[in-house]
Amino acid sequence: MDRASLDSLIAAYGVAPSSDLALVISLELIQSSGIDEALPFVANIKAPVDDDRAVRLFDALLDSGHHNDARSFLDESRPSQQILLARCALMDGDTEAARKLYVAATKDSPDLASSELDNLYSVQRMAADGNPKNQKVKLRLVEKAEVVELATFVQPEQSSVNFDDVAGLVDVKKQINKKIILPFQKPSIYQRFKKKIGGGVLLYGPPGCGKTLIARATAGQCGAEFLNVEISDVLDMYIGESEQKLHRLFEKARASTPSVLFFDELEALAGKREHGRNSSGANIVSQFLSEMDGFAQNNQGVLTLASTNTPWAIDSAFLRPGRFDRMFFVPPPDKLARAEILRLELASRPCSSDINKDVIASNTSGFSGADISNLVETAADEAIEESLEQGGDVPISMAHIKQALAEIKPTTIEWLTTAKNYARYANDAGRYNDVLDFINKFGK
Ligand SMILES: Nc1ncnc2c1ncn2[C@@H]1O[C@H](COP(=O)(O)OP(=O)(O)OP(=O)(O)O)[C@@H](O)[C@H]1O
Ligand SMILES: [Mg+2]
Repeated sequence: MDRASLDSLIAAYGVAPSSDLALVISLELIQSSGIDEALPFVANIKAPVDDDRAVRLFDALLDSGHHNDARSFLDESRPSQQILLARCALMDGDTEAARKLYVAATKDSPDLASSELDNLYSVQRMAADGNPKNQKVKLRLVEKAEVVELATFVQPEQSSVNFDDVAGLVDVKKQINKKIILPFQKPSIYQRFKKKIGGGVLLYGPPGCGKTLIARATAGQCGAEFLNVEISDVLDMYIGESEQKLHRLFEKARASTPSVLFFDELEALAGKREHGRNSSGANIVSQFLSEMDGFAQNNQGVLTLASTNTPWAIDSAFLRPGRFDRMFFVPPPDKLARAEILRLELASRPCSSDINKDVIASNTSGFSGADISNLVETAADEAIEESLEQGGDVPISMAHIKQALAEIKPTTIEWLTTAKNYARYANDAGRYNDVLDFINKFGK
């Protein structure tokens, strides 16, 4: 736009000011005369601005240290602009607000995470010391750690479940109590007997039988800091990033002992190296192994808990002493436990008095906890359908459960069949004895 047209726009703005016009003029002025002349117009942009222009304006403001003026036009409901607000907060040194905005933005738009990380780095560098060239290397390290934290870091979990919410699994609970909870609650006696607190425990068993549930309950039970690691928190598309993140996680756990790091679905991170698709998988495994190694690291007070339903796919280096050397089998629920899970599932729903939990428990051999929960959901659907037809609440009855039973099949049998083969033919050091005992006791 030539100067004459711009001047006539400015004149028009004097007669009838509007947010739209202020936006057009600001962008033109930034280009032709610099940010200072544009600032009075920027202040009058009140309506949300499209992403492309928002970024252009924001960058100009940021360069001149006027990022706070951007708040008048940034739209907090758009992830792409939430990121810009996160950068504003970082410039002000409010990392907590920045973290929240960043997490909110990347939750629904994960692509933003990778494209914006560099911006966050550079903003942080500028915020940390006015001159980007100074201390570049040193800052880079600090930044990296902080931005990872900012991006995805696992927040310590306040677990609301405890052992009362887990039906059955009496043996597993006893073992967990002895090996995990007591050492955290009564450290002095362990110290007197020179027993180390921490180490690794692997929960394994068929899907849907309560591995994740019991890990959460353990957190609720023991009051240690509990870091629940999602695989997606660690895996990163950039080479070397995943290892970094893993390292930071362990560092965080070491810094706040006693702590429990929980890796759900461990096989995704710790799969056999020869099965790995590429060498980056192998790098993660090596990093993971060295983090767990008591010799290289001080892991006193850090307990690594993990779960998997394919223990045979885990790289066997993980199962050696000093790593996940304790393996607990989380079996399918027995009859008593199935009745209890039914009670938990039905407790808060309208039920008819004809429901006989013992009979249902007897007829659901091989069902996992998740199958039973699915059974109750299906019966509830039937009851809702009838309620809608009849115009009044029809409680869940035995007939609904029976109908649902015809549809839902147990899902643990297939797992047990596979596990039996490993237990029979690849039972290194009696690793799967618990599975064999279970099959001998309950299997046909
Ligand atoms: N022992 C149990 N007591 C109460 N509820 C259970 C139990 N086992 C399973 N459930 C129910 O089944 C759901 C699934 O269990 P959970 O997610 O813990 O299974 P999992 O063993 O981690 O399965 P996966 O291997 O597929 O991850 C739970 O949220 C819970 O509703
Ligand atoms: Mg699970």
